[in-house]
Amino acid sequence: MSHFIINGGNRLEGVVTISGAKNAALAIIPAAILAGESCRIENLPAIEDVRILEQILIRMGATVEFTPDQGMRVDPRGISTHSVTFEMVSLLRASYYLLGALLGRYGYAEIALPGGCSIGQRPIDQHIKGMRALGAEVVIKGGVVRAQASKLKGAEIYLDVVSVGATINIMLAAVGAEGVTIINNAAKEPHVVDVANFLNMMGASVRGAGTDVIRIAGGRKLHGCTYAIIPDQIEAGTFMIAAAATRGDVVINNVIPTHLEAISAKLMESGVRVIEGDDGREFFIRVTSQSRPRAVNLKTLPYPGFPTDLQQPMMAFLSTAAGNSFIVENIFEERFNHVSELRRMGANITINQRTALVEGVEALSGAPLYASDLRAGASLMVAALMGEGKSELHNIHYIDRGYEFFEHKLRALGADILRVE
Ligand code: EPZ
Repeated sequence: MSHFIINGGNRLEGVVTISGAKNAALAIIPAAILAGESCRIENLPAIEDVRILEQILIRMGATVEFTPDQGMRVDPRGISTHSVTFEMVSLLRASYYLLGALLGRYGYAEIALPGGCSIGQRPIDQHIKGMRALGAEVVIKGGVVRAQASKLKGAEIYLDVVSVGATINIMLAAVGAEGVTIINNAAKEPHVVDVANFLNMMGASVRGAGTDVIRIAGGRKLHGCTYAIIPDQIEAGTFMIAAAATRGDVVINNVIPTHLEAISAKLMESGVRVIEGDDGREFFIRVTSQSRPRAVNLKTLPYPGFPTDLQQPMMAFLSTAAGNSFIVENIFEERFNHVSELRRMGANITINQRTALVEGVEALSGAPLYASDLRAGASLMVAALMGEGKSELHNIHYIDRGYEFFEHKLRALGADILRVE
């Protein structure tokens, strides 16, 4: 198993370019099944999760080819099975988007139930509620969800929980349903909007994405298209936090500033300088810090609130802030697994159910660190970059799932980091 060796203390300085959004890619690639012909998806991040999804689609019979400019051509016409096995789902839980895509296109889908993971139980009851509302017969037996419908019919659905996955999965199925579907209490994340834009490029009619009511007029014939996905706001936020944590000065290119308002506001509240701009071609955000940050409180909320995926990196940053920060994790019930690792570096953090009290210490010191999930890995990377001395960061396969060329981008900003195979 490879790991990183990081010698902390270097200020990050320079320019970094953000890659395509992982959570948009993981939904848009399965959505390509809904077209009766091939689609070309561009600006894909070269990350493990995209490669796994490519393999799953190929094993199902689709033709999937990477094209030189980090693009992918998906031709669903060869799909010969509508079943996604437990092995596939255990490799990539987001393969559950194939439930909505297969049901919407073929009227049948068989998906192994995804288990929980290190950040929580992650049930899919709202996904299933939506499929049943569209008229599918859904049977869960032996850990497998079987959904079948001779004809899906549009319906009005009210999500009990604001769920990105359920919103997207229901959108995918609703595209194949006769009539109008309305999703109330829908998630508003940028990648929900990106999926809706992709579906509309294929000839679907999805309106209202980005608000909490999405209206899909289904049953339209869809065609292939070419679509470039949005930049990854979580990767961008991670670099913003890393720049602030190392008292650096970093220009982050290829961003959509409105997607980053919550993280920009929180960093500015802590005393970090955040400037938005555009160089005539693309938007950038510049993050500069010369002094110890002030402690701030934060609560994770559905978009446009503070994103849960940046709670962990932000905690690392606040662990040496001046004062006490309260962090409330409202989205996932287990998203504090990185805390024990930060404590090993000298952080002073107390957990009480979903609230973490982070009492700022002068400095963190390097230590052997073990990532438990993707964003815990990002959090420990930030901590190691700001810590005094050497850290070894293990289980970095989690990081490879969601951050493209992470150590290369950090090294280009001055980080002293080495991947040891
Ligand atoms: C997506 O997960 C992202 N993953 C997560 O990113 C992200 O943290 C999350 O959205 C929230 O923004 C992908 O897009 C692949 P949810 P998802 O459904 O869709 C509960 C990362 O690091 N819920 O919005 O699974 C659920 O338990 C990953 O990139 C139900 O109760 O998240 C959670 O408490 C981690 N029933 C809350 O809703 C359901 O049917 C939000 O989950 C579905 C969800």
